[in-house]
Amino acid sequence: MRIAVLSETDGAETRVSATPETVKKYKSLGADVVVQAGAGAKAGIPDAEFEAAGASVAKSAQDALKDADVVLKVRRPAEGELTGVKPGALVIAIMDPYGQDAALKALADAHVSAFAMELMPRITRAQVMDVLSSQANLAGYRAVIDGSAEYGRAMPMMMTAAGTVPAARVFVMGAGVAGLQAIATARRLGAVVTATDVRPAAKEQVESLGAKFIAVEDDEFKQAETAGGYAKEMSDAYKAKQAELVASHIAKQDIVITTALIPGRPAPKLVSRAMVESMKPGSVVVDLAVERGGNCELAQAGQVVEHNGVKIVGHLNVPGRLAASASSLYAKNLYAFVETLVDKETKALAVKWDDELVKATCLTRDGAIVHTAFQPTA
Ligand code: NAI
Repeated sequence: MRIAVLSETDGAETRVSATPETVKKYKSLGADVVVQAGAGAKAGIPDAEFEAAGASVAKSAQDALKDADVVLKVRRPAEGELTGVKPGALVIAIMDPYGQDAALKALADAHVSAFAMELMPRITRAQVMDVLSSQANLAGYRAVIDGSAEYGRAMPMMMTAAGTVPAARVFVMGAGVAGLQAIATARRLGAVVTATDVRPAAKEQVESLGAKFIAVEDDEFKQAETAGGYAKEMSDAYKAKQAELVASHIAKQDIVITTALIPGRPAPKLVSRAMVESMKPGSVVVDLAVERGGNCELAQAGQVVEHNGVKIVGHLNVPGRLAASASSLYAKNLYAFVETLVDKETKALAVKWDDELVKATCLTRDGAIVHTAFQPTA
C-alpha cells in the first residue's frame, strides 16, 4: 500500500496533510509513504523530517502519485493535478463539494474514489476524524488574536498608576466550535464577553464559559436545531427581531467576531452596514464566515477593510494562519480515517463501502458521482 502526500497548489494554503508523526503511524500500518518535496515547508516541516520519519521524498506531484493507492491533500485537487493517478486510488481531502459540479465530475472522470472529510458524520466514533471541529477550534482562537492585533487598545482591564484601561467588550456571533473557542480565548485575555446563537443548546455552553448569552428566545428559537446539531435557516420574522436586539448591542462593542454558518448554504448576514456604522472608530469586526459569503455585509474576502474607522477583518483560511497546529490536527484526523480503510492483518486497503463513515464522505467512485447529495442536476 502506497500513500502519497501532495503539496498544495493553492497559494493561500499553508497546511499539509501529513506530519512526521502520522508518517510513522502509516508506516506501522504497513504503508509506504511518499511526500512531494516541499509539501510541509509552509507548516514548518522540512523534507528531512518526513524522511527521518520513514517517508521517501518525490520531486514532483507526478512522481509522488505514481502507483499511489491513497492520495492525501488538504484541499480538493485542481483539474490536472491528478494526472497519472492510478484508477481506483482513494483521494482524501477537504473537498468543498457544494456547488462544485464540474470539479466533482473531474474527480469522477479521473476514476478516483474521492472522500470529503468535512462530510464526516458527527458521531462518537468519528470525533477523532472531525476536521470541521479541529480546524474551527483553531480559527476561533486565531480570530481573537487577529481581532486584538487590529484593535488599538488593551483587552484586559488594567489599573495602573497612570489610570485605568477598561476591559474590551467582545461579542461573538455563532457559538459553535469556533465561537466557543473565541469566547474562551477572549475571556483568557480579560475581555468582557457576550455571545449569540440561534441554537438553544448554545446558551448553556456560552454561559459555562463565563460569557453572557444574548438572543431572542421565542418558540422558533427553541426548535432551531437539527438532529445533527446544526443551525437551521431562521424565518425572516425571527431574523428581524434578532437583528433589532443585536443592533443595539453591537453599537456598544469593541470587537465583534462572527462565526455563523448553516451547512451547505451561504452564511447568514448578521452585521449590516448600519450596524458597523453604529460602532465606535477603532472597533474591529472579524468575519470568520467570509469564505462562505460573510456574516458582515462589508467584509471582503482576503482583506482588512476600514469603514468609518471600524476595521473589518476578512482573512481567508484562518486555520492556515496557524499552519503547524492546523496541520498537526488535520493530519491526525486523516490518519484516523485511513486506519479504518485498512485491513490490519493483510496490511492492505480494504474499504468497507457500506460503512456509514465511507458512505457519508465518498463523493465519487468507479467513474461516477456516487454521493446522493451531489448528484448532477442537469
Ligand atoms: P457551524 O460551523 O455550522 O456554525 C457555527 C455556529 O453558527 C453554529 O453554532 C450555528 O448554530 C450558528 N449560527 C447559524 N446561524 C446563525 C444565526 N443566524 N445567528 C447566530 N448564530 C448562527 O457549527 P459548528 O461549529 O460545526 O457546530 C455545530 C454544532 O455541532 C454545535 O452544537 C457543536 O457543539 C456540535 N458539534 C458536535 C460534535 C460531535 O461530535 N457530536 C463535534 C463538533 C461539533
